[in-house]
Amino acid sequence: MEAAGPPTQPPAPHPSVAPLSFLLGKWRGEGEGTFPTIAPFRYGEEILFSHHPSKPVISYTQRTWKAASGEPMHAESGYWRPRPDGSLEVVIAQSTGLSEVQKGSYDAEKKTVTLQSELVGNASKVKQIARAFQMVDGELSYIVQMATITNSLQPHLKALLKRI
Ligand code: HEM
Repeated sequence: MEAAGPPTQPPAPHPSVAPLSFLLGKWRGEGEGTFPTIAPFRYGEEILFSHHPSKPVISYTQRTWKAASGEPMHAESGYWRPRPDGSLEVVIAQSTGLSEVQKGSYDAEKKTVTLQSELVGNASKVKQIARAFQMVDGELSYIVQMATITNSLQPHLKALLKRI
């Protein structure tokens, strides 16, 4: 029989990921969607940021549902690649078929992340996407802005999530 070892501690994250470890885990909350061309809507959302200590990357999965009925809405997943210099790049595949390459920066002290699309692929209307995340009192908030063929860059989504 194997001898009982010392109490196990969660392994330290990869050094590249450590400054963004405030994101790691599962989040659930609610958001609202707007744009000049659509009727405003409310949605529920779950986000999972996961990580293996041997890799300098965070896996990201998100799903949303209609606040009133629970019916699934948009979903997306991707990979976040932070660098020690405070920059990061993110790739995201959306359930609509749209794909994004995002570049930006993080601030480990302020617990913020800002991203601007460098590439939006396979999109019929979307020209640009900007994403901003912020931790406020232990809660994760974000704003997603988009520019389309008819409208300049402006908010489409705003949400607040609690750790679960
Ligand atoms: C509408 C893009 C995320 C729900 C739209 C439109 C675009 C778009 C281009 C049509 C606007 C127009 O016709 O002028 C995006 C992008 C997203 C995103 C790029 C992520 C970066 C989401 C999410 C949800 C959502 C997370 C749900 C939680 C809707 C709804 C509409 C809409 C309900 C209006 C109805 C419809 O056209 O289907 N979105 N969206 N979107 N979006 Fe999003």
